Amino acid sequence: MTATNVRPSPDAEAMTAAVTAAIRTVEANIDAFGTRYPADTTVANRYPLRPPTAGQPEGANVGWTTSFWPGMLWLAHDLTGDERYLQAAQSHVDSFADRVRGGIDLDTHDLGFLYTLACVTPARRTGDRRARDAALAAADHLMTRFLEPAGIIQAWGDLADPRQRGRTIIDSLMNTPLLYWASQTTGDDRYATAARRHTAQLREHILRPDGTTFHTFYWDAETGAPLRGETEQGHGDDTCWARGQAWGIYGFTLNHRYTGDPTLLAAASTCADHFLARLPADHVGYWDLEFGDGSGEERDSSAAAIAACGLAELAGSVADAARAKGYRDAAQRILRSLVDNYAAGGPMDSNALLLHGVYDKPKGIGVDEGTLWGDYFYLEALTRATIPGWTSPW
Ligand code: GLY
Repeated sequence: MTATNVRPSPDAEAMTAAVTAAIRTVEANIDAFGTRYPADTTVANRYPLRPPTAGQPEGANVGWTTSFWPGMLWLAHDLTGDERYLQAAQSHVDSFADRVRGGIDLDTHDLGFLYTLACVTPARRTGDRRARDAALAAADHLMTRFLEPAGIIQAWGDLADPRQRGRTIIDSLMNTPLLYWASQTTGDDRYATAARRHTAQLREHILRPDGTTFHTFYWDAETGAPLRGETEQGHGDDTCWARGQAWGIYGFTLNHRYTGDPTLLAAASTCADHFLARLPADHVGYWDLEFGDGSGEERDSSAAAIAACGLAELAGSVADAARAKGYRDAAQRILRSLVDNYAAGGPMDSNALLLHGVYDKPKGIGVDEGTLWGDYFYLEALTRATIPGWTSPW
């Protein structure tokens, strides 16, 4: 058989079909959303526009998830080479520049999620100065949340809010790439130093000795002493919230990539090994790893999508070939299950790419729905699977 006669594997065919379906939905959403933003999650499997908040109209750029939409547009450009996706992605830069300049909803560590996808990517790819300046302004703002002497970045809210003071969360590991980029871009090591200290504190305290993770952890902001773990979106303070564990896999791996610190790679492997050990038969875990098949609880497809990306990244970082293969195979199994069992059927079915995520079960928000971040990481996992050597935006 000549090379041209070789049929793609069933897995490759399934991935190609999944990319085609996802791109159809992204295309339809460009027309529907324009430069406005969908809500964090779907309602009955359809994204409405982001609801109006105090002083901000419907569809405004507020909250922590808006950048996943331009992030998907950049992925669509990678997957198709079609310039229309690049134009659509680039059209969001103004909104993010206005947001940071106007001080709109910036009291969050999630500036990393927001500005890495929406502004660092165009700054890197097209040399867009406005995007670069907005991302640097966001990095400066993130630095105002760095608390001495604890050496952590406060996650949420006003720095003086007693409920949030000194508190950080595992998701923040995904926000430090903005700081490493800022140091690389400016030559000023302050950003990377803060990121390194923050990550070391999470490795020390948010990762438990049994390989599970706390969702959030408090430090005494005055003395820097570590205090206690507490959940916000998990089942209990001592259980392991599935998405947090997935953020741990991907986040510790990325922080290792930027620092070369082997203890961060070990932390990522620890998170991965526990996550994989808790997966049910179809490889897509329940929203808290406490639960298994027969629990009657919902799965969180978004945690699975994040883990698929994190495991693929981890596989490229560990030196041991057998471990690397184990992580790569696990990433493929998870992605295949998402494609076969959790992906939406196309724009008529849903304007989400991936169904059956859970945002916040304890508060009853976005339970068994599509999520913007689940869609983004699902498309990133498909991109990783179909474009060998693809360069991640993180
Ligand atoms: N970063 C917030 C969440 O994962 O729900």
